Parts: sequence; C-alpha cells; structure tokens
Amino acid sequence: AHRYAVFGHPIAHSLSPEIHKAFATQLGIHLSYEAIDAAPGRFEQAVRRFFAEGGLGANVTLPHKNAAFALAAKRTEAATRAGSANTLTPLVNGAIEAHNTDGSGFVRDITERHGFDLRGHDALLLGAGGAAKAVAWALVDAGVQSLTIVNRTPERADELADAIGEPARCYTRYWDGLDGESFNLVVNATSIGVLGGSFDLPTSILKDHSTCYDLSYGVAAAAFKGWALAAGVRPDWFRDGLGMLVEQAADAFERWHGQRPDTDPVYRMLRERF
Ligand code: ATR
Repeated sequence: AHRYAVFGHPIAHSLSPEIHKAFATQLGIHLSYEAIDAAPGRFEQAVRRFFAEGGLGANVTLPHKNAAFALAAKRTEAATRAGSANTLTPLVNGAIEAHNTDGSGFVRDITERHGFDLRGHDALLLGAGGAAKAVAWALVDAGVQSLTIVNRTPERADELADAIGEPARCYTRYWDGLDGESFNLVVNATSIGVLGGSFDLPTSILKDHSTCYDLSYGVAAAAFKGWALAAGVRPDWFRDGLGMLVEQAADAFERWHGQRPDTDPVYRMLRERF
C-alpha cells in the first residue's frame, strides 16, 4: 500500500492517522498511515529511513517541526516563513521537501468554518514559536488591519515582526504592555496550556464581540478558554484548534493526493469527542 506517516514524540494520541484515513476513504484512495514515535535524537534517521523504504509523505508534530525544516533540501515559502515544517514530501535522489500547512489551515478554519472575516480586524497574537510564526504570516496575508504580537521573550516577537516587515500594520508589544489596547481577535499560540503558566492579560484588551482562538484543543485549550470566558467572551465566540487540525491535515492531504477532501464530516466526528 502507499505509505504515509506522522512523526512525533509522544505520538500515541495523534489524530492524524484517523483524519488521513477518513479523507482517503471518502475519496476512494488506498493508503496506509501510521504513527511513528521518534525520540528527538533519532528523528532525522527515522524520517530518512521511512522515505528510503518507499514512504510517500510524512506529517510532523511536536517536538520535531524545527528539525523537519532543518533536514529538508527544499523548503516552500510557507515553511520558510514559519521556520518549521509539518509536511514532508520525498523528492528524487533522497531529497526531502519541507512544507507547513499550519497557517493555511488556521485561516481556512477561522474564515470558512467559523465565518470570521479577518479583513479589517485588529488581531493580537500570543506567542512567537513555530506555530505562531505560521499564523502571523497567514493573518497578514489574509488582510488583517493590524497584527500585534506579544511573547514572553520579547526578542522573538520582534524578530517575527521584523521578518514580516510591515511596520505600519504589524508590530509588537510587551506582554505586560497591553493596557489601553483592544482587539477583535486574540489568538493563543503559546504552549501555556500544555506547560502551565497563566494568561495574566488585562480584560480590557477585549471588545464587545471579540473572538478568542486557541491553536490547541482539548485539555490543552482549557487554560486560555478559562481566561477568555472569565474576561467576558461569549462561549460560542471562543474557538479551539480542532478545526485547524483537520484543515492543516486536508492541506497536506491535497498536496500529496491532488484531491481536496470534505473536512466537515471529519471535523464533526472529532468534535463529538473533544
Ligand atoms: P510551537 O512550535 O508549538 O510554537 P515553541 O516554539 O516552543 O512551540 O513556542 C512556544 C511558545 O509558547 C513561545 O512563544 C513561548 O514563549 P518564549 O518564546 O518566551 O519561550 C510560549 N510560552 C511557553 N510557556 C510560556 C509561559 N509560561 N508564559 C508565556 N509564554 C510561554
């Protein structure tokens, strides 16, 4: 069978095999899709072996996205902008192409599934890691009026804003320097929900109808959701990253198979569990 896989550490709870298999069933495509646990020091070797043995595509999740970008001989613009990759495709001669579908998946989820028009809105992005970078570029491309980036380590936020290079529209603030500002959209791209920590942000950053979006889902989204609801966000204006997960998978799937799956039934199936 045509072999695909997702690499991560840990990987047991990854939904990617289930999502890709559901897409394949929908479109009548035969494939195998396995979850491969690779310890950090063994990731590159494991990926190269997978492709040498005939693997046709690999998704990559934590903590390997930066390593996936680094090992690639060819990098798409989306991967370069994020400095990380979640989609690897073999080229001729054992070379590997790195791509990143986090940004496109995020925008598709928030605009098409949730009906949020990004144009003309003021967005606040929390975080400046790989996922944040992908989302920052995607927000700017999607036409937000402004993008403000804050990060615990401010230098990383500054680097990201400098890379985007639109000083009139994209800028940084200190984490504790948001008093007096307000936003239509607040996106959490930090790992606070996983690692612990608190969202000690002024509730005045929210407007009447602000949307809050966490890139993660399930228990990992609980901390930010707790902050958002306590700050007055209406429950149905809080979004987690389950839809983004399905959309980034669909973008990888389309890249490999040339066909776009219908993501809604897969999203609804997963939503019943998360
Ligand atoms: P990913 O690839 O998932 O984006 P990452 O590159 O490790 O992961 O980024 C994690 C993000 O969460 C970073 O923005 C990090 O801030 P730093 O750049 O200062 O490390 C942020 N983060 C993690 N724990 C945090 C905490 N307790 N408070 C605030 N920010 C935190």
